[in-house]
Amino acid sequence: MDTATAAIANAEVSVDLDFDAVVIGAGVTGLYQLYKLRELGLRVRTFEAASGVGGTWYWNRYPGARFDSESWTYGYFFSQVLLDTWDWSEHFAAQPETERYLNHVADVFDLRRDIQFNTRVTAACYREGTRSWEIVLEDGSRCTTRFLITAVGVLSAPTMPNNIPGIASFKGRSCHTHHWPKEGVDFAGKRVGIIGTGATAVQAIQEIAKTAGQLTVFQRNPNWCVPQHNGRISERDMRDIRTRYPEILALCRTTPSCYIHGPDLRATFEATPEERAALWQKRYGEPGFGLWQGNFRDTLTDRAANALASEFIANKIRERVHDPVVAEKLIPKNHGFGTRRPPLENGYYEVFNQPNVELVDINETPIECVTGDGIRTSRKDYDFDIIIYATGFDAITGAFERIDITGVDDVRLKDTWANGPQTYLGVFVKGFPNMLMAMGPHGGLGNYTRSAEYSVEWVTSVIQYAAQCGFTRIEATAAGVREWTDHVLALGHGMLANEIGSWMTGVNRNVEGKQTPRIMRYSGGHPAYREYCDAAAAAGYRQLALA
Ligand SMILES: Cc1cc2nc3c(=O)[nH]c(=O)nc-3n(C[C@H](O)[C@H](O)[C@H](O)COP(=O)(O)OP(=O)(O)OC[C@H]3O[C@@H](n4cnc5c(N)ncnc54)[C@H](O)[C@@H]3O)c2cc1C
Ligand SMILES: NC(=O)c1ccc[n+]([C@@H]2O[C@H](COP(=O)([O-])OP(=O)(O)OC[C@H]3O[C@@H](n4cnc5c(N)ncnc54)[C@H](OP(=O)(O)O)[C@@H]3O)[C@@H](O)[C@H]2O)c1
Repeated sequence: MDTATAAIANAEVSVDLDFDAVVIGAGVTGLYQLYKLRELGLRVRTFEAASGVGGTWYWNRYPGARFDSESWTYGYFFSQVLLDTWDWSEHFAAQPETERYLNHVADVFDLRRDIQFNTRVTAACYREGTRSWEIVLEDGSRCTTRFLITAVGVLSAPTMPNNIPGIASFKGRSCHTHHWPKEGVDFAGKRVGIIGTGATAVQAIQEIAKTAGQLTVFQRNPNWCVPQHNGRISERDMRDIRTRYPEILALCRTTPSCYIHGPDLRATFEATPEERAALWQKRYGEPGFGLWQGNFRDTLTDRAANALASEFIANKIRERVHDPVVAEKLIPKNHGFGTRRPPLENGYYEVFNQPNVELVDINETPIECVTGDGIRTSRKDYDFDIIIYATGFDAITGAFERIDITGVDDVRLKDTWANGPQTYLGVFVKGFPNMLMAMGPHGGLGNYTRSAEYSVEWVTSVIQYAAQCGFTRIEATAAGVREWTDHVLALGHGMLANEIGSWMTGVNRNVEGKQTPRIMRYSGGHPAYREYCDAAAAAGYRQLALA
């Protein structure tokens, strides 16, 4: 028997632990995970850094924050009570409504009694002797648990520019969109600068431009923004949506990214130019992600097809922005449509026709520093009352790396993933027994709650199986990790999005070592992902070592 096997065999598993399961995070994933584990009768504790529930929808209170998923496709489907008791007011609800919804969920299931708020987990260490995890909190206190479930989110580790000196010297007000103050910010008549033009900035810019005295947008790379066509939901519409919930769920289960939008089954060049223009025009006029997710089936894999779709949108931008120089600056040149996640907008391009809005291309005139009064570029000094950093996230693995997670033999998760995530089904990591990742890397993204519900249910079923069989140690096998990771990488090749730097490929130029695109997510579509995971369960979790 080698030392590792002996340590496993000699584990003192009957030791008293504080909890059966600890969940990190109380966003849509963590809330449902808590509910499901409690349903199993486990003693569960959730730790959450925020002062309330909601995760993304707690933190991101910036003006204009709202869904890009249809509200009625994003909410939980696991509970008929929730479906019956919640009315959405808009097809793409704003942040306050979604935060209220998640508080409603916490109320209905009395979830808060097991959540410790204002509590950041700083470290988690696996103890082979007791087959348990020791959790270390920000205040230095500790607790023990058999299972550790991470529900830390893919977009929860915000980043500030690391290449701009002087940020702390600014005398006005500055904030990152993720850390937006609860009391809000008044922009009326103010001089405002915003850095970034991702989905967050696109929403914030449209809102701030309504009242700011002067809004200056510092853009490094533009994105392909497409109309959202948001609208109110009347009582009658809501009644109709409620009767259609079963078919809405069924539809989301058939599409690759769990949206109601699925691809047109034709390839781009199988259609005539007139048919192509007709489809794009139709999708451009419809609400939501239709143009992205409901385009010709090869739009995101065939360069020539992608170039044509991109040119269609470029021409829309040229039509909507009056100044042709500004229009060209707003058209992405370094990536094709849909290869980064396209922001949805309700009048974004028209904002740049307003006299109080200026676009600064920082490739032409780089930001040199932040001064006490504003931002200095290579061309001029801009004075501001408020600077907004809409500079994104250390996505997918960032929240994991902000916790010092050590597994068997004190190996760090961060080191295990130095060359990219290695997982089994996006849930397990070899060397980190009893740690299960709900919505971990190498799982599917897309319309999030739809995939999170499945992820949580799969995680729960493994724990239930272990409990029923009396297993106290679950670990991915090396073969399981190799097979899944190879599968994810093989599927990801050929997807144009995986060649482009974006949060979806783990690129964040503000974080050392995150400059090169990597395959971070499962690209085979959710139906295939679920099939794979269901088959693994049906086969008795053969790729897991259970002890
Ligand atoms: C502005 C914005 C809009 C979005 N809109 C959409 C949309 O329309 N549709 C869609 O499908 N997706 C959208 N997303 C993606 C969104 O992140 C997911 O929809 C979803 O909310 C993620 O849920 P989660 O519970 O997995 O993670 P999160 O909501 O990120 O929750 C994770 C929680 O874990 C906590 N946490 C992390 N680390 C620690 C730690 N060490 N200790 C304690 N607590 C910790 C965080 O504080 C956070 O509350 C959006 C993202 C952003 C940023
Ligand atoms: N309604 C919604 O559904 C919604 C809303 C908001 C966000 N989200 C989700 O969250 C994701 C992330 O969106 P995000 O906008 O927060 O982040 P993001 O897409 O990563 O955008 C960050 C922006 O900041 C810029 N930036 C970062 N560091 C910079 C620096 N040092 N100097 C200058 N510019 C810098 C980036 O420029 P470069 O592009 O050049 O790197 C980019 O324009 C979205 O794609 C989406 O999935 C969803």
